[in-house]
Amino acid sequence: MINVAIDGTSSSGKSTMAKALAKSVGYTYIDTGAMYRSVALFCLRHGLITDGKVDVERLLPMLPDINISFKIEDGKQITYLNGENVENEIRGLEVSNNVSLVAAIAEVRHAMVRLQQDMGKNKGVVMDGRDIGTVVLPDAEIKLYVTTSPEIRAKRRFDEMRAKGDTSVTLDDIIANVKMRDHLDTTRKESPLRKADDAVEVDSGKFATAEEQIAWAVDYFHQFMQGK
Ligand code: DC
Repeated sequence: MINVAIDGTSSSGKSTMAKALAKSVGYTYIDTGAMYRSVALFCLRHGLITDGKVDVERLLPMLPDINISFKIEDGKQITYLNGENVENEIRGLEVSNNVSLVAAIAEVRHAMVRLQQDMGKNKGVVMDGRDIGTVVLPDAEIKLYVTTSPEIRAKRRFDEMRAKGDTSVTLDDIIANVKMRDHLDTTRKESPLRKADDAVEVDSGKFATAEEQIAWAVDYFHQFMQGK
């Protein structure tokens, strides 16, 4: 077995691709964004975030009390924070709006990276995040860096929201949000998002559908394994 590291920008379709690839080849999918989201939820619940600032001094001694694990239920990966199913809550707006603050804290990143490296030590994982190929699993046999233009990514999110009946934001709002998140992800001091030198860049805009993108990844995996 090998490890697969999948990094890239937000809304690039990387999570859908990573999840489907793992399922297709029988590997374990690890959503590292869910781990940062769980820490953000912990901080919100403990009143550690006020006015866009995290109380790092109070958070640090609590870090060992944050236990994050994943379980597969009905074929879906569910995130647990200290034994509680938080899968829905970590996808909500409050966590989404605060998670980048928490993901920028060096000590939080070190703790998460240690956990993630432990999860990858026996191989057989498809790990999805921002720093997997560069920091977490620099020896991963397959490294993919998935991105495309902010406009295409925003359009995907816009269509998803419209399909759910959400008409609260315009396409221009979402383009601005995607660009802001790119800026935060690529300019933070601690492990900014960047393509590993040995990662293969995947332009997700060239695929007409998510299924095509998934089929490409599965095919790439099998070709790699045959050439080994
Ligand atoms: O992929 P996502 O939207 O669930 O990620 C949530 C946040 O965590 C986002 O601000 C990027 C950050 N993140 C990170 O810094 N490093 C990772 N390996 C994964 C996510």
